Amino acid sequence: MNILIIFSFLFIPRISAVSRSPILIEKESFDSSFYAFPKNFSFGASTAAYQIEGAWNEDGKGQSIWDTFTHNHPDMIADGTNGDIGDDSYHHYLDDIKALKEVGFEHYRFSVSWARIFPNGTIVNKKGFDYYHKLLDQLIVNNIEPVVTMLHYDIPQWVQDYGGFLNPYFVKYFKLYAQTLYTEFGSKVKIWITFNEPYESCVEGYSAGTSPPLINLRGTGEYICAHNVLLAHAAAYDTYKKLFKNDQRGMVGITLDSRFYFPKNPLEGSDIVNRAMNFELGWFAHPIFSKNGDYPQVMIDEINERSNQEGRPFSRLPEMSNQVKEFIRGSADFLGFNYYSSRYVEFDNSEYDPTSQPTIYQDSRIKTSIDENWKRAKSEWLYSVPQGLHDALVWIKNEYNNIPVIITENGWSDSGELEDDDRINYYKEHLISVAKAINIEKCNVLGYTAWSIIDNFEWRKGFSERFVQDAFLQLNQYNGLDHKNDIAIIEMPSSFNTTEKSYLKFARLPTTELNDALVGSTVG
Ligand code: BGC
Repeated sequence: MNILIIFSFLFIPRISAVSRSPILIEKESFDSSFYAFPKNFSFGASTAAYQIEGAWNEDGKGQSIWDTFTHNHPDMIADGTNGDIGDDSYHHYLDDIKALKEVGFEHYRFSVSWARIFPNGTIVNKKGFDYYHKLLDQLIVNNIEPVVTMLHYDIPQWVQDYGGFLNPYFVKYFKLYAQTLYTEFGSKVKIWITFNEPYESCVEGYSAGTSPPLINLRGTGEYICAHNVLLAHAAAYDTYKKLFKNDQRGMVGITLDSRFYFPKNPLEGSDIVNRAMNFELGWFAHPIFSKNGDYPQVMIDEINERSNQEGRPFSRLPEMSNQVKEFIRGSADFLGFNYYSSRYVEFDNSEYDPTSQPTIYQDSRIKTSIDENWKRAKSEWLYSVPQGLHDALVWIKNEYNNIPVIITENGWSDSGELEDDDRINYYKEHLISVAKAINIEKCNVLGYTAWSIIDNFEWRKGFSERFVQDAFLQLNQYNGLDHKNDIAIIEMPSSFNTTEKSYLKFARLPTTELNDALVGSTVG
């Protein structure tokens, strides 16, 4: 049965800012089953400890590499700011939860600061537990499912002093940390994420050296880093499975980020897409989610060949023994997927100069580009390409046997403008892509998480790039009772803004309210 579905934008009058009447800008009629979300699909928002908590040295917290970096190098942060106070969520977490609740979000992804729990070494700081207990208790009271990331870039400084991700001992430290989290919070947390975006941590932190810990080991550092991340992730998974899963009945996954790649030259077709995807997403996903485990074959072959040409005795990509392969393979109950943007890709035919400085990008032998028509956000890397999210989900489904996926981040930056139609369009179009991937392609997507609920410290961009402010979108669907029937992203009125923070409102409105809102709209 064809049911009328209406996508609409509702501009809610705001106190102390512009106010407009509701405008219905799209009205289409199509098969609702293509655009509805499954009943048990969950909508949520995501944050990370260093970006929102503040309280950088309170209650026994130790320093993380981001504390060290921002204090030593304010010159390397776009606006010279840091996360010392940030959004002060450490003291104002109730406001955050109120916003989540008002919005109608069903899950909240946040990360734990490892340095609050283990400030200086392997001795636990019991005071560090309190904040997370309070946060978790409030989320549970409000019926919001906690999704907890163990490490979102902010490695404790003491772990870094031992070499961070490059030290094989990292695995032991991380396992202890994970086990401590399960023991302390496992009765309250059912969805765990070990790492956030290890691609970024390894490439920016240990290869290019552009983000903390600023280690410049191009062509080797990123691969050793990734190897230890995979081992640490698998150790955390194994610990849960053996010691906690029976009682706690939760899930453990990992969050990976990737662009999708479209072939620039149609003749290169799926080969070039697979090559590019394997050098980004597959680097971490293939060892965990593929049938046979190990790094993608294209990485093994290329890096081995280049290492040979460079006269090295062994490949720059660490080898996995059968035992290691087996340990890592299958070590996740779901994939957390962060998607923001896509690129065109073509094969790089240029001859390799083995005396040049290698990097993972060079090893991949791809050249990437953008389409001039893609709209760009404030962030220079962020172009809106909703089709890429759809195609990435389909790629994941085909490559990894339709594993469960939670979209753990998706969002759009600006400077904090009052009018953010670009963000509205971005969310709308990306949600449509997700719905299509689920309903038409049968991708196993369990949830969608907006980045973010609150404007926050955007790493090296400080507070100069904002992912939340003034978002107000309604994306509504009229459809059958067995589907969620309304999804909306609307602006949080500034009156709510008690702590001078901006919150994203991404709400489900009852259909009756929606109808009321549409009365007086310019169309229909
Ligand atoms: C990170 C977030 C970051 C967001 C926007 C993601 O890569 O996980 O911490 O704020 O992108 O740049």
